[in-house]
Amino acid sequence: MAIKTPKAWMPYVILAAALLFTAVASTALWIIGNHQRASIGASETQTKAQIGGPFTLTDQNGQRRTDADFRGRYMLIFFGFTNCPDVCPTTLSVFSEALNKLGPKADRVVPIFISVDPERDTPELLKSYLASFGPRFVGLTGTPDEVAKVAKAYRVYYQKRALEGGAYAVDHSSVIYLMDDKGKFAAYYTLERGPDALAADLAKRL
Ligand code: NI
Repeated sequence: MAIKTPKAWMPYVILAAALLFTAVASTALWIIGNHQRASIGASETQTKAQIGGPFTLTDQNGQRRTDADFRGRYMLIFFGFTNCPDVCPTTLSVFSEALNKLGPKADRVVPIFISVDPERDTPELLKSYLASFGPRFVGLTGTPDEVAKVAKAYRVYYQKRALEGGAYAVDHSSVIYLMDDKGKFAAYYTLERGPDALAADLAKRL
């Protein structure tokens, strides 16, 4: 009988073990939770700092161009494709109007249109397309790999979407980036800003 008496303690031992486990587990979860919050904050900062990067593409005159060619001027960058029915032409019109409002300061900004449809957007096609938005634009295209690389550097999403009759459209991010005269990320805009707000913001920075 004496041997069985320790069993009376078992519920207390189990309870103590359960409390200890709960304490350890909740501390671990708290630490993991804080760590995740901290790393999300850091990655947001990193993402902003890491937008952009070196690229080598071909312009509308067939010349190879790199990001370094534009140092000393701001790059106003938009990714799109010449067959885009609405967002791309609207954005390029906004660029054109905003730069016209800037006066002489506009010479410090290069509006750059980077194709996310390199299979169809040849330099020749970019040239005739951009002509309707004025003389300032640089159009860039390249091999599918070159375009994929620059899109990744700028965190731009694009995806072909099949249309009826075998044609396709390209869904793409519509964010506008401003890179400073050293090629570093300066600001981003959305189309809702319109030409007046874009011109006003650029004027402050130049
Ligand atoms: Ni578009």
